[in-house]
Amino acid sequence: MKGESPGGSSARILKWGYFAEISLESVKLVSDLAILSEDFTNTGEYTLVFSQPSTLRNMAKITFKQIDGSSRTVEAGDGTLMELALDNGIDGIEGNCGGVCSCSTCHVYIPQEWMDRVGPATNIEQDTLEFSENAKSSSRLSCQIEVSDALNGLVVEVAPHE
Ligand code: FES
Repeated sequence: MKGESPGGSSARILKWGYFAEISLESVKLVSDLAILSEDFTNTGEYTLVFSQPSTLRNMAKITFKQIDGSSRTVEAGDGTLMELALDNGIDGIEGNCGGVCSCSTCHVYIPQEWMDRVGPATNIEQDTLEFSENAKSSSRLSCQIEVSDALNGLVVEVAPHE
């Protein structure tokens, strides 16, 4: 895609994953947030490579049912479900091992209908969950679940402490 850059040169959009259309006004608007790199050539043309600006994304919303029965819905950025919970002070998620799958203090239950989208537990995760008294077929360690836009609308239940 080519056009006039904010400085009057030609701009070519090489990578544009999250905006279906772009106008030069929107290049100006988002440039501080979105431009990952730019490369000027001696022809006066320059290339912009865009990253996904987190401030402009449609963030996934994930709801945690906390141990006290209350629910909290939070917007997800990058990282794991456990990190999201810690960043938002979700009651009952501690992440004591730092996400290396050895403590179960990030134990959650995932609704069956979401299991495919969340993905399967690894063998190491399953081994760790075997030592949890409250493990069920819907159990997962939230430190092993990467948040993505595909998880928008997910409701997870924090497992009770043992
Ligand atoms: S944070 Fe320890 S198992 Fe997830």
